[in-house]
Amino acid sequence: MAPSWLCDKSASPRCYRLGLWGLVTVGLLGLCYLLYHGDRLWPSVVPKLRTPPSPWAAPRLPPPRALPTPAPCVANASVRDVSGFDKLPGHVQDFMRYQHCRSFPALLSVPGKCGGPEGSPGIFLLLAIKSAPVNYERREAIRKTWGQERAFEGAFIRRLFLVGVAPSARDAKKLNRLLRLEQREHGDVLQWDFRDTFFNLTLKQVLFHAWLEERCPGVRFVFNGDDDIFVNTDNVVRFAMTTQGAREQHLMVGQLFVNHRPVRLQRSKYFVPTQLLASERYPPYCGGGGMLMSGFTARVISRESRNVELFPIDDVYLGMCLEKAGLLPASHAGIRTVGVGVPANADPFDPCYYRELLLVHRFVPYEMAVMWQAIHEPRLLCGKRVSIF
Ligand SMILES: *[C@@H]1O[C@H](CO)[C@@H](O)[C@H](O)[C@H]1NC(C)=O
Ligand SMILES: *[C@@H]1O[C@H](CO)[C@@H](O)[C@H](O)[C@H]1NC(C)=O
Repeated sequence: MAPSWLCDKSASPRCYRLGLWGLVTVGLLGLCYLLYHGDRLWPSVVPKLRTPPSPWAAPRLPPPRALPTPAPCVANASVRDVSGFDKLPGHVQDFMRYQHCRSFPALLSVPGKCGGPEGSPGIFLLLAIKSAPVNYERREAIRKTWGQERAFEGAFIRRLFLVGVAPSARDAKKLNRLLRLEQREHGDVLQWDFRDTFFNLTLKQVLFHAWLEERCPGVRFVFNGDDDIFVNTDNVVRFAMTTQGAREQHLMVGQLFVNHRPVRLQRSKYFVPTQLLASERYPPYCGGGGMLMSGFTARVISRESRNVELFPIDDVYLGMCLEKAGLLPASHAGIRTVGVGVPANADPFDPCYYRELLLVHRFVPYEMAVMWQAIHEPRLLCGKRVSIF
């Protein structure tokens, strides 16, 4: 029997015309949807069509796979009942609506980065660098300098950039394309399908730990940081080597923040309202600009994070996970996420300072290039003033 919404033409021509228009409208809406979301849909439906012809040979590019698309996470409508919600800034409201969403499909992945789970104990240091899609120049500079994949004093170093999707739809299309090119050339991008914003950095961190657990469980150390820092990777490897005991143990070092409080000033980037955290105290944490952790600690975080609600400030969130596990982060004098702190009359770009440090915030791409060369200069004489700028 025909469903009741289908009309018999002879019985009612008016109803038939209405039905016809209905079908046309549905068809047009469907077409609009396809055109609008084409960038998201096509890679999974017809991946080959969307792969631009490459100017580079691409032996390392894995064949595009149709990714499973889980149902998108639904906004939590009850957050509107939280008292004072209407007066909160838009990005905080947005965070609260999607706070419970933790699984997002990977758009780009590098499953073999550590040689598979079995090969991963052979990787000494994984550099996991948080980058926004638009920061192309920073990624390029890092690839050529402190982020090189190499063996240093017998230790294998691997590199990954952690990215989401550019918040504006127009940029996202171009930048997703760029990231696919970068992936083809360098094979170092982990991208998930969520808006890459400041308040989503914790989500990025949590998704990275899940990836690590699955793809690189045996890695010895993870360096986690931003893309605007300068890292003396040689020193990081040397330092990590000195911390290794007979068996794996807890290690998280960075610039340590103890007894810090949530910022309650609405106009601050770090503003956290009491609706998100009632406590007036943050647990001890390492500044997110750059920190080193052992594989052991990375796994602890992965486990604890399942029971810690997402919190918008990513480094504080890691502190919360450690606290839950009864562990503490530590300070390392060579990690300066808020500048080198050279004496007032000294040259802030003296490579001699950087030769002794583990990392410094913040460097623009050309500075990374110059400084990386300078600290490796065999004739660099320290003790004597040297200036490279
Ligand atoms: C939705 O938000 C309300 C209010 O904050 C909260 O109590 C509830 O647990 C949230 N639901 C989910 C699924 O996170
Ligand atoms: C985080 O990403 C999700 C998924 O794209 C998005 O719905 C949400 O608005 C983002 N949250 C923030 C605070 O930008």
